[in-house]
Amino acid sequence: MIKYKKKIVFSAIQPSGNATLGNYLGAIKNWRDMQDEYDCIFALADLHAITVRQKPKELKENVIRNYALFIACGIEPEKCNFFIQSHVTAHSQLAWILNCHTQIGELSRMTQFKDKSKQHTENINAGLFTYPCLMAADILLYDTNFVPVGRDQKQHVEIARNIAQRFNSTYGETFILPEPLIPKLGAKIMSLKNPEKKMSKSSLDEDSTIFILDKPDLIIKKIKRAVTDSESSVKFTENETTGINNLIVIYSCITNKTFLEIEIEFENKGYGFFKNKVAEAIIEKFSSIQKKFDLLIKDKDFLEKCQKESTRKASEKASITLSRIYEKIGL
Ligand code: TRP
Repeated sequence: MIKYKKKIVFSAIQPSGNATLGNYLGAIKNWRDMQDEYDCIFALADLHAITVRQKPKELKENVIRNYALFIACGIEPEKCNFFIQSHVTAHSQLAWILNCHTQIGELSRMTQFKDKSKQHTENINAGLFTYPCLMAADILLYDTNFVPVGRDQKQHVEIARNIAQRFNSTYGETFILPEPLIPKLGAKIMSLKNPEKKMSKSSLDEDSTIFILDKPDLIIKKIKRAVTDSESSVKFTENETTGINNLIVIYSCITNKTFLEIEIEFENKGYGFFKNKVAEAIIEKFSSIQKKFDLLIKDKDFLEKCQKESTRKASEKASITLSRIYEKIGL
């Protein structure tokens, strides 16, 4: 019997701060659902996190908490390879090589760099600029076929692909060309207070973001305060970024109901009623995750064992790729 090799999926997320409803619906849930079909490799990108200044103790704490939280959300270390980026040294090593194969011009066109250098005018460091090279290293080290990311990261996967393609044409076949996988729905959950902006971990308005570890009362309060427009029917309006659209997307992603089913369910019901149902759905989903998290975060031995094993597996594969690259460029 022919054994088909599964396609390889790689993705990562920054471990700074606490994971949000947006992270859950835009990334974690999709990662979880890919674990059977693909050979999945997931990472907490702590090296990317230090492109903005972090408090060392907090960073360490956040990495452990997010590691436990992702497992609580259904990322299974026995099924996929879930590791911490800085623990696998090949990432920094390949990043340097890719820095030397990437043009300043193409890095200057990255929208995330332009945005972040406006936000952090006091610390526009070189790492922020070459961020896409490290991300390309993450992806290319594992012969990745698909990279599930939110729409805002698509440009980064495209530059990784361009870097790989150019490298291949200079040195001969070295890298598999990765493709982004953008989920249609939920890739971008918007702020509850300003639906023009992405739901963010670091928003100054606390009511704009729901965190996976928020308690039920807080979730209800935040959903109640979410902005909705002046109309009062629960209807999705195409090509618009409204508060009600955002709530419909959230509800749809959590319950797997279609927009049409949702519109029928809430026909002639007001926003208040709908919001209660949205809050209930989120609470139901997150309460079991929170219970698992509370147990896992106390089980330091288990977490350490998972991390060690996944570092070992990732390092093994990454070092093979790295030797191949060293060979090609004459190192
Ligand atoms: N830049 C991504 C983000 O902020 C995180 C990331 C780092 C990533 N390395 C990656 C995503 C490799 C996909 C593949 O969301």
